[in-house]
Amino acid sequence: MRMIDIDIKAAYTPEVTAERVEALRPAAVAAAQTLETGTGAGSDFTGWLHLPSHITEEQLSAIEASAALLREECEYVVAIGIGGSYLGAKAVIEALSDNFAAFKPAKGARLLFAGNNIGEDYLHDLMELVSGHRFGIIVISKSGTTTEPAIAFRLLKGLLEREQGREWAARHTIAITDAARGALRTLATTEGYATYVIPDNVGGRFSVLTPVGLLPIAVAGFNIRALVAGAVAMEQAGDELTATYAATRNALYASGKKVELLVNYDPRLHFLAEWWKQLYGESEGKQGKGIFPAAVDFTTDLHSMGQWIQDGERTIFETVLSVNDQHHEVTIPTDEADLDGLNYIAGKRVSQVNHMAELGTKIAHVEGGVPNIKITIPTIDEDCLGQLIYFFEKACGMSGYMLGVNPFDQPGVEAYKRNMFALLGKPGYEEQTAALKGHR
Ligand code: PA5
Repeated sequence: MRMIDIDIKAAYTPEVTAERVEALRPAAVAAAQTLETGTGAGSDFTGWLHLPSHITEEQLSAIEASAALLREECEYVVAIGIGGSYLGAKAVIEALSDNFAAFKPAKGARLLFAGNNIGEDYLHDLMELVSGHRFGIIVISKSGTTTEPAIAFRLLKGLLEREQGREWAARHTIAITDAARGALRTLATTEGYATYVIPDNVGGRFSVLTPVGLLPIAVAGFNIRALVAGAVAMEQAGDELTATYAATRNALYASGKKVELLVNYDPRLHFLAEWWKQLYGESEGKQGKGIFPAAVDFTTDLHSMGQWIQDGERTIFETVLSVNDQHHEVTIPTDEADLDGLNYIAGKRVSQVNHMAELGTKIAHVEGGVPNIKITIPTIDEDCLGQLIYFFEKACGMSGYMLGVNPFDQPGVEAYKRNMFALLGKPGYEEQTAALKGHR
């Protein structure tokens, strides 16, 4: 298996020297040890640490069988979830999909997402699309009580039952939730849905390699065994790469680089960055601390954000996802008239041009005071994505401990929910409702 790699040479600055990064490496290794021994804050939620190597043949076969049923018997499957119950699957599926899959004939059921927003028009358009078709539902919520997916599920469940009958709907609805707690567990038991369990010791943003991510990914037709194998390879690769990343980003943060831009040069990686933003943002952003995780799609955003990155406030660094090999060759043709002046790159592959854009940007940004961490990805496939997922998860746990926070809780996520419930008049929130009166 070709492995991902990391290069931090362009991340060095007068303050963040190679020696400074090396001086932090023991702290990174100690953080890995703290994860391993379960002696750190939030250690009840480190079940993801050896999850890849503990996934069994039975678990994979069961997920593949459920996916096959939905793929074969449904025209659409709607995966309902938000945050950690959505972003991992979305990231992997987008990365592996044909860029124009939505406009090409589907080989199995088409996978759609819902419950990741409260867009009324979104839900209307979705229901209009699937209405009259046989569709399945994968409803995912660890707590089983999250409002966004609950609304989407109530609407789609009702539609499916009205159109296909309750029995058919129940056979084509799969719930992924806590083993015992939450409204979704109660609902699944009452309705007789097939279910998968999100382990107690795996938090939402670390759950992509549980059925939360694996079932939608399998429904989309991708190889979950290769994804898991990639993660296992990284789990067993030791802490060299993760320690390098964790030590470098913490050294940069301590030197005043408060924002990390995850950069990609391949549009299919856009949602991997969305997943990464949740992973690092929810894990590190607490107690008034934490690198702000942001993301840009290059070269697209060089034409919108490029000015700021080159010349704006010098508080940023970049972590670049650099993909070596594309799956298809497209060569720029020669044109006799050369009216567009492009003959100087005729005969080159588009990926060669992209690599030169990447190199040119790196040189310019580093010269402009933006340190650059490079993560090399041999190619975008299941193996490499599995490696990347585990790499980022492990480095995140280590990095959070180095920062001195509990990387596995998310107390800040509750604040907006309390206000929303109070404003909507949810029973039990009467006091907050009164306190919020006048906030319109
Ligand atoms: O990381 C987290 O725990 C959260 O962002 C959750 O993933 C998100 O709120 C969805 O929660 P649930 O799966 O309970 O519906």
